[in-house]
Formats: sequence, structure tokens, C-alpha cells
Amino acid sequence: MEKYYCTTAIDYVNGAPHIGHAYEKILTDVINRHYSQRADLAFMLTGTDEHGIKIQKTSAANGMTPKELCDMNAQKFKDAWKALDINYTRFIRTTDVQHECVVQNIFKKLVDKGDIYKHSYTGLYCSGCECFLNEKDLTEDGLCPDHLKKPEVVEEENYFFKLTKYKDAIIKHIKTNPDFIVPAFRANEVLNQLEDIQDISVSRAKSNVSWGVGVLDDSEQVIYVWIDALSNYITAIGYDIDNQTDEFKKLWPVDVHVIGKDILKFHSIYWIAILMALELPLPKHIFAHGWITIDETKMSKSLGNVVSPTSVLENFNLEYPDAFRYYMASAAPCGKDGNYSDDDFKEKVNAHLANSMGNLLNRTLSMLVKYFDGEVRPEFKKDSPLFASSLETIKAVKHHFDYFEIQEAAQKIMELVDSANKYVTDNAPWTLAKEGKMEECGTVLATVLEVMCIISSLIYPYCPNIAESMAKQLSYDITTKLDNITCDNIKSGKLISKEDIKPVFLRVDSEFADKSKK
Ligand code: ME8
Ligand code: MG
Repeated sequence: MEKYYCTTAIDYVNGAPHIGHAYEKILTDVINRHYSQRADLAFMLTGTDEHGIKIQKTSAANGMTPKELCDMNAQKFKDAWKALDINYTRFIRTTDVQHECVVQNIFKKLVDKGDIYKHSYTGLYCSGCECFLNEKDLTEDGLCPDHLKKPEVVEEENYFFKLTKYKDAIIKHIKTNPDFIVPAFRANEVLNQLEDIQDISVSRAKSNVSWGVGVLDDSEQVIYVWIDALSNYITAIGYDIDNQTDEFKKLWPVDVHVIGKDILKFHSIYWIAILMALELPLPKHIFAHGWITIDETKMSKSLGNVVSPTSVLENFNLEYPDAFRYYMASAAPCGKDGNYSDDDFKEKVNAHLANSMGNLLNRTLSMLVKYFDGEVRPEFKKDSPLFASSLETIKAVKHHFDYFEIQEAAQKIMELVDSANKYVTDNAPWTLAKEGKMEECGTVLATVLEVMCIISSLIYPYCPNIAESMAKQLSYDITTKLDNITCDNIKSGKLISKEDIKPVFLRVDSEFADKSKK
């Protein structure tokens, strides 16, 4: 595989990041790190969406300029992703000058092509969604179903994009590419929405929305957020109308856009039509993840239950974000909603990462030191049905990632950990040692250490720090590509000394969390 290019949604900067934003960035980072183990080049794009009425209003309410608000909050997103070890390749802000220029060029090209035209319009605008809603989409009381707010009646002359021109081509593309929209059950939703699709407004009157990218040759209009926002996926990697960088040529089309289910329509209809109008190849996949609730309740400012991603690290006094990453990445089956709760977090990461995985490595290395002074002797044979299931697990994990089944892949890895634990229990190397069957004892230990190398590779995308610590103690090269992994990583000779054995993950202590709540 030559390259893998993945993107996240770019977050609105009218507030600080929360655990829902973190969920998406963790999922994407896990995907990107997994493909870095398969492709020559893995590229992850994330960033912030900084224009529109919401940001204009929030900044005014806080006595700041929009740019000041954007700068302040964009930094909070960057800080949060750093704390979570989100290893993105590039961070785009839609206020980047380069982005703004290319957006203007894209808009102009579509005007010149006749795909964008001017039209007088009366519509219902929801600033929460930053889009116009249809009457029939509203609740019985006339509210936006997502934001439970009354949309504003907007009467303006706007530019419109000829979405209807591309309707049939989009329907055909979705129907002939069953893995285009992931999970597949969401494709039907999109096909239903396409049934009564209209041309869409793609600009706003400057008199109503001033914080946006101006339309070239029309000082009265600004480009409305979605054309601006969606274009980030190509402007960030060097696209321009008649000049594309080598990087763009290498990376496009994108392998996956990771987004939340609430913005699937914008990605699988609007964005696809824009790309068709620009005559660019289409994304290979659009993966719509579900939503994260807190203690089974929808997060909201009014309920006061908005959880910041870094607060979890602080509350549990975590040195590394690995446990939180692991928990979030496996919080929900592909495309379904997930939940965060402190108790469940504690229970799960203690069970999986400390008791099952970390402890297995620690016990095995300790026995190697105790019985063999940390040396893997040439007479230890390593041959076990466990190797076959390890190689099977690699295959299964790859397959799950190809379908964006990130929780499911994690389960496979933990099944391998369980099998290795069972192998140790069944073969009781401590009993073998007591009976003086040293070669057999060593064989068991070496076999488990061999499997632990594979486990460290597989867990790496979720828990990069733990994986590195495991690999270090195993003298294993964690950068090994998945397809080059063998069952012959542990060489004969001294592997480790007592003082170099370190627990890779300490149990999360409830005390810290309880204290921080008081
Ligand atoms: O929609 N659980 O920005 P946004 C899971 N700027 N995901 C959640 C979530 C939750 N509770 N809350 C939000 C926008 N998200 C646009 C995107 S892309 C060209 C422009 C996800 O800040 C949400 O689904 O409202 C979206 O994918 C992302 O966070 C940003 O949401
Ligand atoms: Mg939103």
C-alpha cells in the first residue's frame, strides 16, 4: 500500500473541545496509526472550522473579535490533541490565508461553470446546524430537531449550488459502491434524503453574516460555511483550481473521511456534488461514527454534563492517554452510539490493560529472570498453536480496520491476550520449573514473549506508549509493518535484567477520580 489519507471533521471553535470531538479524533488517529503499519505513507488531517454566524455571535457576546475567539479556541483543540497523542500530520484552520484563497477560486470556478447561480430566497436558518432546514424536518413545535431551537426566517439574495444536477450521479455512485458509506445501514438514509433534494444556498449576505470568506467579484456576499469547511480536505494538501501540488496528486482521493452521523448528509451529498463539479475523484469511504453520551445522557451545556477530554486524564492522574484512547476507541461497535462513564472506564481498562495484557508480560518476563536470569536459551523451542492464532489475529484485525470496525478489532486483540493467558495457566511454567523441566518451562515463556511482540504491534494504534514500553522490554522493533511480522522476533541470548522489567500499565485508581469530584 503506497499511501493512506484520512481526515476528521473540522470542529467549530465557538467552544472548547469535548469528549465527543475527542472520540472522533481518537478513532481517526487509531485508524491512521494502524495504516502507518501497512502503508508507506499514512497522512492524517484534522483542524478547525472557524467561520459562520455562530462564531460571529459567540465572539461578540464575549467582547472579542471573531479572530481572537478562533485563535484562543483553536489552541485549545491543539492542546487537547497533544495531550491525547493524536499524531495528526497537518492541522488546518479555515482562516488560513491559503485555504481562504483556494475556497474563493473554487467558488468562482463553479460560478463560471454555471453550477452556482444567484437567486432570491426565503428560508429557515438554524445557526446550530449552520444550514437551512425544510419545514417538514422541524418538530411539531417548529424547532430544529437537533438543537431544539426555533430557526430564524432569512430572506436574502444568495448564491445557489446546482445540487440537483448531480443527484442521479450521486445515487448511482452510492448504489454501485456498497462500501462507500460506512456503516452500510446509513446509505439508505442518504438515499432517502436524496429523493427530495433541492439546490442549496452556498452564500450569505454580508449584511447578515460578515465573518466568512468573501465571494470574489461580489462584495455583498460571503461564502457560507459548508463549501468553505468541506473544501479543507483538498486545500490542506495543496489543491488549487489549475495547480495541484505533488502532495495532492499523491494523497487524493482520500481513503476515508471520518465524521459524525449528524453531518453525513453534507459529506455524502453536498461534498460529493462539489467534487463532481470540480471533476475530482471521489473519496473511497465516508465513515459516520455514532455519538458519545455521558452516563447514558446526551451531553449538553444546559445539563452541565459536558466532559472535557483532558479532564479524564487529570481525574485519573494518567501519565499517558493510552487507557482513555483504548476505552474511547472501543466504546461502540462500528457506527453505533457509545457511552462514557467513570466506573466503566476504570473497570474496563483495569481488566484489559492492567490485569490481562500488562500483567501477562510482567509475569512472563519475571519468570524468565527468575528461572533463566533473563536469558532466552537456544534450546527453547517456540512452536505452538498460539502462533497460528496470532497470525490469524493480525489478518482479522486488518480486515476489521478495512471496515472501520475499531471496537471489533480491539476485541480480537484482547481475545489473543486471553488465549496467551490461558496458555500460561494451562502449561503452568512455575510447575515445570519446580519439576526441573527447564527446557519445557523456557519453551512456554519464549512462546508467550513471542506472542507479546505481536500483541504490542496490534495494540500500538490504540495505546502507543504502552506498546512502546512493551516492545522495549521485548527488544522488539515496534515499527515492523504488519505484513512483515513473523513468529520469530525473540532471539536467543540475554533478553532482560530484573531492574529493566517495568509494569506497562498501572491499574487506574478510583481514589483520584473520587477526590477530583469532591
Ligand atoms: O459539525 N459524540 O463541527 P462540530 C461524538 N464544523 N461525536 C460528536 C459529538 C458527540 N457527542 N458531538 C460532536 C461540525 N461530535 C462542522 C464539521 S466538517 C467539514 C465540518 C462530532 O464541532 C460531530 O459529529 O459541531 C462532528 O463530526 C465533529 O464532532 C465536529 O462537530
Ligand atoms: Mg455539531
